[in-house]
Amino acid sequence: MDKDNVIQNKTNSVPFQGLGASGPIGIFDSGYGGLTILEKIRAELSEYDYIYLGDNARTPYGTRSFDVVYKYTLECVEKMFEMGCQLVVLACNTASAKALRTIQQHDLPKIDPNRRVLGVIRPTVEAVGAMTKSNHIGLLATTGTVQSNSYPLEIHKIHEDIIVTSEACPMWVPLIENNEHLSDGADYFVKKNVEHLLAADSQIDTIMLGCTHYPLLEKKIKSLLPEGIRVVSQGEIVAKSLADYLKRHPEMEKRCTKNASIRYFSTESVEKFSSSASVFLNEEIQAEHIDLG
Ligand code: DGL
Repeated sequence: MDKDNVIQNKTNSVPFQGLGASGPIGIFDSGYGGLTILEKIRAELSEYDYIYLGDNARTPYGTRSFDVVYKYTLECVEKMFEMGCQLVVLACNTASAKALRTIQQHDLPKIDPNRRVLGVIRPTVEAVGAMTKSNHIGLLATTGTVQSNSYPLEIHKIHEDIIVTSEACPMWVPLIENNEHLSDGADYFVKKNVEHLLAADSQIDTIMLGCTHYPLLEKKIKSLLPEGIRVVSQGEIVAKSLADYLKRHPEMEKRCTKNASIRYFSTESVEKFSSSASVFLNEEIQAEHIDLG
């Protein structure tokens, strides 16, 4: 089925401002996971202004269809454009896997060809391909990201001979979103998925955490692995890649405002977001509610 016929594009109604416009960098995730990316981006690029948008009212995205993830992601991107963002990072693997390409190719040319939306899969793949010695990589990700096949496809564009074994972990995001990830209950699911991945390919020497929520489980995952297996989180990789992008695109860099500010928006209740976000950021934050309609 052609996605473009299913999802009605509503971008014509959005008033955009053209090349002279400037604004904060937008960081988007279905929920809190993108905060692990935002933290590293702000450490690397502290002078810029940021808007974080978590679509907490509709999270998780990982179990949803292509069409739904695309529709939700586009709505959030448009909202961030309305708020002045010239550049939006999808700090969500599920959205990067299921929505990024269509937004870049189909929607951006109509909305505003001067704005940019970037994802997290390509930079992760570029970095991780150079880390494996055995050429066997494991991927832990949401069901949506695994089913999209985006990671193996992207890796094989650069390294044809790397074998990627994927394990979908559908329980991990709900456990993290509910702050249950350090509980004994979480141990059961993490052990189950990690053991399953290693049993599927005993030569894996590098495991990618292909979901922005999973750095909160990194310690637990590492404790289950034999010596010599490296676990790779995306935060620093994406931050470095964004820094490099801004260097290579001075026309965009100029349009990103620099007052070192940050605003957090959630489609859910502000109280819930503010308290849960502190689990991810280790700092108190004041979120603002946003309606997408
Ligand atoms: N944090 C998102 C990702 O990186 C997914 C969470 C979800 O399932 O909504 O894939």
